[in-house]
Amino acid sequence: MCGIVAATASREVSEILMEGLRRLEYRGYDSAGIALISHNAALQMHRRPGKVKELEYALKQTPITGFIGIAHTRWATHGEPSELNAHPHISGGRVAVVHNGIIENHGKLRDELIEKGYKFDSDTDTEVIVHLLHFNLETNEKSLPEALRSVVQRLEGAFALAAIDIAHPNQIVASRRDSPLVIGVGIGEYFIASDQLALRQVTDRFIYLEENDTVLVTPDFLEVRNRDDVVVQRKVSQITSAPEENMLGSYSHFMQKEIYEQPQALRSTLNQTSDPENPSLFGTDTEKTFDKVKAIQVVACGTSYHAGLVARYWLEELAGIPCQVEIASEFRYRKRVSQPGTLLITVSQSGETADTLAALRGISPGEFLATLAISNVENSTLVRESDLAFMTKAGAEVGVASTKAFTTQLASFLSITLALGRRNGIPEDKEKEISSALDALPDAVSSILKMDYQIRHLSAQFTRRNNMLFLGRGVYYPVAMEGALKLKEISYIHAEAYAAGELKHGPLALVDEDMPVVAIAPGDQLLEKLRSNLEEVRARGGQLSVFADPHSGLEPSSDLSILMMPNCVEYIKPIVYTVALQLLAYYVALNKGTDVDKPRNLAKSVTVE
Ligand code: G6P
Repeated sequence: MCGIVAATASREVSEILMEGLRRLEYRGYDSAGIALISHNAALQMHRRPGKVKELEYALKQTPITGFIGIAHTRWATHGEPSELNAHPHISGGRVAVVHNGIIENHGKLRDELIEKGYKFDSDTDTEVIVHLLHFNLETNEKSLPEALRSVVQRLEGAFALAAIDIAHPNQIVASRRDSPLVIGVGIGEYFIASDQLALRQVTDRFIYLEENDTVLVTPDFLEVRNRDDVVVQRKVSQITSAPEENMLGSYSHFMQKEIYEQPQALRSTLNQTSDPENPSLFGTDTEKTFDKVKAIQVVACGTSYHAGLVARYWLEELAGIPCQVEIASEFRYRKRVSQPGTLLITVSQSGETADTLAALRGISPGEFLATLAISNVENSTLVRESDLAFMTKAGAEVGVASTKAFTTQLASFLSITLALGRRNGIPEDKEKEISSALDALPDAVSSILKMDYQIRHLSAQFTRRNNMLFLGRGVYYPVAMEGALKLKEISYIHAEAYAAGELKHGPLALVDEDMPVVAIAPGDQLLEKLRSNLEEVRARGGQLSVFADPHSGLEPSSDLSILMMPNCVEYIKPIVYTVALQLLAYYVALNKGTDVDKPRNLAKSVTVE
């Protein structure tokens, strides 16, 4: 994880770098740092533990200036979050490096460098990079790009890195392998960052680097070399969409804003399916592939994995297509057998999650019919490396806990289910019913948002709890999993989800007056079975809160709180109920006073294994 940003220009760059860091904070926020080469070619640096605002404060106290610099926001892997472990790392008082990724052979390189007389100030794997770079510059008298290329040949693992050297005061060198890196092209200036989002305030033209590319930029020069050290031209892509609105407006948190943006995000996502101008979606390639699909394998992490679990119910029940869903970090290391005609669907909000990407890259030729990425970020590595893509149109998601990305992933899966169902003999009336349910989805989500006050009221009873259980049956089991994940991510309350039928096989032993249980009770055919499970909880003194359908027939009592959900068509209920659980987690976290948008130890985009 971690975010890096760099700039070389004919103007002051410190504020450009700081704005870049603010926009990259979703990638990690346990320390931050910035290094600039001043106008008299001196290296100046600030590093601070904590969030980017701590670094901002340091800069206000002691401003530093320069036309060239690098900056970093960290998510610790090697070494605790501290000033010494914060990037940039410096060697010989002349070279500075920022790095995102993990250097797997850092131990061996460290021993080698210590033997050469280098002293290590930090516990990070990154420090070997800066000392190696320094060694190549000083001892082998290489140019800065040559020195970087020698360094990256020695590195095992994942990296996106950028370096500056006071002996070459207008040059930045950079390289990537298994971690994202883009070049922002300005007029007489170049920028480098982990994500284009960091640079949208300064440019709309980007170059997406390929694996093992190395780059040299000065304000008016760019050279990219590929893994064979050959100079290559990489395409400059112009982003036509307006820069993402990155402001909170009247909301208190990005998570709250993003929960409220869901009706619009769903509308935008669903509108594309009816846009004949959108070839990437259900264009010829997709149509041809879909004609041959016999089975589906979904691979993803975190919330995106939960989207796959929900989709499995739809794909099997409505489209009659067998579907397996697996966590990417398991899938990638397992010997697998897939049936002929299996479509691999990877799901990732960011399109950069290391395990999901590795899973895609690790498939054998002919193992799958084709690969399709469901992602929220155009030009993300996952999208670029997949055969087909379905873009969720959620807009930038800043809150670490995913909300609108999840519901738009579900809407995308329902659209895909319909497209496959049509080929597999879904009855026409059912198809019409699902289509009109999708049309009604944004309004159904709006009606949950109107329940904000009631959900906030309900949240009060969970604020002082240490543990919670979430129960669901059928398609609502993964919805319960997502509800539990949201709660633990942002409120730090230990929460587990169970398929309600599994209660008696273990978790019932945990149920007493100190273990609140949240259940999802839509009025489907499993309602009667769920009601028996709820009685089992009540009989053990458990406090129940149920998100219930108006037809569930459940009545509130002293041990049973009911949140009556608006009536809506069955197919979209998993999406609608999820929004209520998102609001519940949000308000519990708010009551507890945790950092809702940047929960401890987490990051939004996990680009390390
Ligand atoms: C991190 C985030 C989660 C997200 C998961 C997968 O853990 O904190 O919110 O669901 O990564 O991310 P992706 O970008 O692949 O959907």
